[in-house]
Amino acid sequence: MKQENHQICDYEGSDYQETFWDSGERDYEDQVEEIALKRLLPADGSLMLEIGAGAGRNTPRYENFSQIVLLDYSLTQVQKAKQKLGESPRYIYVAGDVYNLPFVEGLFDAATMIRVIHHLVDPHKALTNIRAVLRSKAIFILEYANKHNLKAMLRYLLGKQKWNPYSAESVELVELNFNFHPRTIKKWLNSADFKLDRTLTVSHFRIGALKKIFPTGLLVWLDQFAQLTGNWWQLTPSVFTRNIAVGETPPPEKDRFFRCPVCKKDLDDPGQTILVCSHCQSKWAVRDGIYDFRQAID
Ligand SMILES: C[S@@+](CC[C@H](N)C(=O)[O-])C[C@H]1O[C@@H](n2cnc3c(N)ncnc32)[C@H](O)[C@@H]1O
Repeated sequence: MKQENHQICDYEGSDYQETFWDSGERDYEDQVEEIALKRLLPADGSLMLEIGAGAGRNTPRYENFSQIVLLDYSLTQVQKAKQKLGESPRYIYVAGDVYNLPFVEGLFDAATMIRVIHHLVDPHKALTNIRAVLRSKAIFILEYANKHNLKAMLRYLLGKQKWNPYSAESVELVELNFNFHPRTIKKWLNSADFKLDRTLTVSHFRIGALKKIFPTGLLVWLDQFAQLTGNWWQLTPSVFTRNIAVGETPPPEKDRFFRCPVCKKDLDDPGQTILVCSHCQSKWAVRDGIYDFRQAID
C-alpha cells in the first residue's frame, strides 16, 4: 500500500508570503480577495479545513469558525503559519497532501482552497478527495485561475498568445501553473458532488498600469461591485466560487479525526508524538505541534 503519487508544486523554503504579499505589491489582490471571502463564508461553523493554507494569510478571515485545520504540503509554510497564528486549540497544523488527505470522511463543516488548484495536475481527483472529508451540505470555497479572462482574449485576438482562452482544456502557463476554463471547473465540481452555488469574479483591475495610476482603495472599491457580476460572466484572472456538498456522507464516529493516508483506516488517539496506524503500521510524526502526513517515518 502506498500514497497516491502526483507531481507537487512544493513551496518548501519559499519566501512566497514575504515577497508576494508582505511586500505590499499585491495589496489590491489581497483586499479584493478578503471581500470575496467575506461574501462567500457561512455566518458560523465549527470545523474548517483550509487546504494549501500557505503561511496563513487567509486564516484570520475564518474568524466565525471555532476551529481551523491548516493543511499545506510544505512544512516550512505550515511553520510560518504557526509562527504567525500561534499555538492554540483553535488551530490544528498539518503538513499533508490534498491527494492523500489524512482525515476521516464527513469531518468538516467547510473547506477553502484559495490560490492552490492552479498548481494541481489532477484537480478533479483533489476535488473528489475534498468532497469525501466534508459532511453533507458543507460549504466549499474554491478560488481558481481563469483562462477565460479579458487580457488573454485580447492577446489571443492580437496574435500575441497561441492558446485559446475560449476552449475547455486547461493551459499550463509555466510548469505546474495552470489556468482553467470556468466551464471545466463547473464540470469537475459537479462530478465531485458539489453544487455551484455562487460565483464572484475577483481582481478586475489586475493590470500593472492601472495599479500604478489609481489608488489601491479606489480599485478595491470598484472591484467590490464588479465582483457581483460573477454569476453571469467570468472574465477576470481570478474567480471565487461557493459550492455545496451534495449527496449523503455519514458523520464520522465520535472522536475520530485523522485517518492513515496510506491504508485509509482511522487512526487512534491524535494526542501522541507519533501516530501509529493499527492496520498497516505506518507511523506519522508530530513535531513541534505539527502533524506530518507527507511521508511515513521508519
Ligand atoms: C500560491 S500558495 C497559496 C497559499 C495561500 N492559500 C494563500 O492564498 O496565501 C499555494 C500553496 O499550495 C500548497 N500546495 C501545492 N500543492 C499542494 C498539495 N498537493 N497539497 C497541499 N498543499 C499544496 C503550496 O505548498 C503552497 O503553500
